Amino acid sequence: MKILVLGPGAREHAIVKALLSEEAGHEIVCAPGNAGIAAEGVETPRLDANDPTAVANFVQERGFDLVVIGPEAPLVAGVADPLRERGIPVFGPGRAAAQLEGSKAFAKRIMAEAGVPTGRAVRVSNAEEAGPVLDEFGAPYVVKADGLAAGKGVLVTSDRDAALDHVATWAPQGEVLIEEFLDGQEVSLFFFADGHDVRPLSPAQDYKRIFDGDEGPNTGGMGAYSPLPWLPGGVEAFVSEVTDTVALPTVRQLAAEGTPFIGLLYCGLIVTERGVRVIEFNARFGDPETQVVLPRLASPLSTYLLAAASGTLAAHPAPEFSDDAAVVVVVASEGYPGEVATGRELTGLDAAAAVPGVHLVHAATARDAQGEWIATGGRVLGAVALGADFGEARSRAYRAVGLIGLEGGQHRSDIAARVAEA
Ligand code: AMP
Ligand code: GLY
Repeated sequence: MKILVLGPGAREHAIVKALLSEEAGHEIVCAPGNAGIAAEGVETPRLDANDPTAVANFVQERGFDLVVIGPEAPLVAGVADPLRERGIPVFGPGRAAAQLEGSKAFAKRIMAEAGVPTGRAVRVSNAEEAGPVLDEFGAPYVVKADGLAAGKGVLVTSDRDAALDHVATWAPQGEVLIEEFLDGQEVSLFFFADGHDVRPLSPAQDYKRIFDGDEGPNTGGMGAYSPLPWLPGGVEAFVSEVTDTVALPTVRQLAAEGTPFIGLLYCGLIVTERGVRVIEFNARFGDPETQVVLPRLASPLSTYLLAAASGTLAAHPAPEFSDDAAVVVVVASEGYPGEVATGRELTGLDAAAAVPGVHLVHAATARDAQGEWIATGGRVLGAVALGADFGEARSRAYRAVGLIGLEGGQHRSDIAARVAEA
């Protein structure tokens, strides 16, 4: 197939790698892609992936069999819609269904209609309204801005004044939700969705905070591992429960409302003592979870992307996954997730990629005039390792990270530590 992948990051690098690993020998273009994706021999044309008209024209000109939309921004901008109108198979929801990620209030309403278990939430429009609601819920307080906020919209704090400040900061830009605090382990579980049916991938856990021990501010994700052997009842029973209580009811509700969800349904879950609860939906593959889920996928990715895009998932069994343990450790620039220092030299990539079981996925890299690698953004790259168990995968990933040189570079040292000990 001739496949266009849209997006610039490590998630897209992971998608491209999975497609390249198939025997079918696809022709893959990734726009805008990045220097790591280009180094795979993939064409990375300059294209504004968030511009529906520019993308539609490019796709029409070049004649792709399938378009895969990576990040949330083009989804929420409605890039899928004109493609679908022109009859091009596209993996990614249109603007209306992407509201499942783009608006937390929309997601809450869909969950309420569909009977999907989630935290209780109350909408407020200013700090005065928020005060009594915070007191009713009690600490720790969970305050969420309604729209896309690049990971900065959610505050979990025991500081009542900080919670009120967060409301005051975000309320002028739309609604704010105050939500019940849910205590437990977080799980990311993805589903291919074709508007009616879903097929589950294997669960993963990501590490959102910048520092070891889940300290410091939230980031885009500093690492992840898959699968999750500690899930109550085991992976299979957990996946089947979430399919029946979360993914299918959500997809059916969206279909009933005339906004079918076609693409990747990301269920962000917390396993509480009282059962599984949804904390968020995303309308796309998670980053960095995708970097550990796709290397374990033993079925061809393109088959499921195309089946979802063309409404034929029912004809396919659930995809299969290897028993390998997978770990990704993200290397970030100095200052991330705040103001980052960029343009610094990045060394040791070949040695890192040569560690057995390891490959690198690039997020923000470039090559200078001499062809040397430099870091160009916050999250720079990830070292992904597969192993027979988490001990092996983890030590391989950290061996690779140890070979990478980046002045001021940061990484967490506790990714998958607990699961490796267990
Ligand atoms: P979200 O953008 O909704 O995924 O929220 C970002 C992070 O905030 C999540 O990954 C959780 O760690 C945390 N969080 C969100 N909602 C809750 C909640 N109701 N209870 C506890 N933690 C939460
Ligand atoms: N890893 C969290 C996300 O992709 O939203």
